[in-house]
Amino acid sequence: MSLNASSLQRAVEVFRASFGTSPEIVTVAPGRVNLIGEHTDYNEGFVLPIAVDRYLCVAARGRNDRTVKIVAADLNDSDEFGLDNVQRDEEANWRNYPRGVAWVIQQNGIELKGIDAVVASDIPIGAGLSSSAAIEVGFALTFLHFVQVDVPRPTLAQWCQLAEHKFAGVQCGIMDQMIALLGKENHALLLDCRDLSHQLVPLPSGIAFVVADTGVPRTLAASEYNIRRRQCEEAVRWLSETLGRPLKSLRDVTIEELGQVFNEMPEPIRRRARHVVTENNRVLDFQQAMREGALKRAGYLLLASHASLRDDYEVSCRELDAMVNALMSVDGVYGARLTGAGFGGACLAMVREDALARVLEEVPKRYAEELGQNAPEPNLFAVRVSDGAWVESL
Ligand code: GLA
Repeated sequence: MSLNASSLQRAVEVFRASFGTSPEIVTVAPGRVNLIGEHTDYNEGFVLPIAVDRYLCVAARGRNDRTVKIVAADLNDSDEFGLDNVQRDEEANWRNYPRGVAWVIQQNGIELKGIDAVVASDIPIGAGLSSSAAIEVGFALTFLHFVQVDVPRPTLAQWCQLAEHKFAGVQCGIMDQMIALLGKENHALLLDCRDLSHQLVPLPSGIAFVVADTGVPRTLAASEYNIRRRQCEEAVRWLSETLGRPLKSLRDVTIEELGQVFNEMPEPIRRRARHVVTENNRVLDFQQAMREGALKRAGYLLLASHASLRDDYEVSCRELDAMVNALMSVDGVYGARLTGAGFGGACLAMVREDALARVLEEVPKRYAEELGQNAPEPNLFAVRVSDGAWVESL
């Protein structure tokens, strides 16, 4: 697949200006939007993301030594490190993604070669489209290209996840890296995060997906994210003890079992558990609804997911709730929910294709009405479902 993304042109131009030659390859990595299944991945549950047509591009050329030079075209910043002793960088967090990926690949016994690279991206940072997975995957495929090693994509996704844990300090799940590597045009990826088994789910025609960025940066995302993760572990410990059998994750609990002990279970872990257990079921129902073209039912499940994230998991915020209301007030919107980690960032909406123009025009006004004075500037755009990452030779 080839494309005409502005990040690709920018990466190539800045490469020529910075290194005085043309790059040999450009690796293209998509952003992602999760249709449903939020905060389930690190609980060994189900997710249903799509890769979207916003791309991060890494233009690169091999070197004959063990030095990595990277220019970040959008940030006016650069990095240089040696492959013999890759360390975290305390100054600029973006540097930890390529560094982390180089570290993890070498930890797995693959000796890398140095590269000159330029990274440029059209994936908005902080909107919840996982620019972080895109930069990890983009550099992982780039590094591997120059040593001609093929790593199975699910394995590579796990390596990228580990790089994020160790170098960027976020205990993220596996969803973002999997979809950035395994996405397919016009399909969602139904992923079982327990064993990484996955299936492509064809998407019905006549619908469009809209990303509605609230304009609120996800400031609490990293710290609160790690707290939620710990609460889920606590819930597993409590449930194992109370149910009298060892549970590995919240995936091992049914709704019925949770219902039996819900009243005795302490707050907030009982609501955290209820979100995860019910969300797993919603993912399975939603993918079935998509296969059947049952769009109203799918829309209802999106709204139920948002309510559960807001009330039980407590990762929404005023602006995300206002955005869902604004979206639902326009005719032709089937459903909407916060997408990604939450605490700001964006909502996803599923809309009738012929209502798209109206949605893009009306929703910003309704959002401003919902929030009154000092409403942040939202950013709405339609996304197309893209392929997972690939390498283009130039
Ligand atoms: C972030 C993480 C993912 C996932 C979502 C919440 O995007 O990177 O692994 O946990 O939050 O569903």
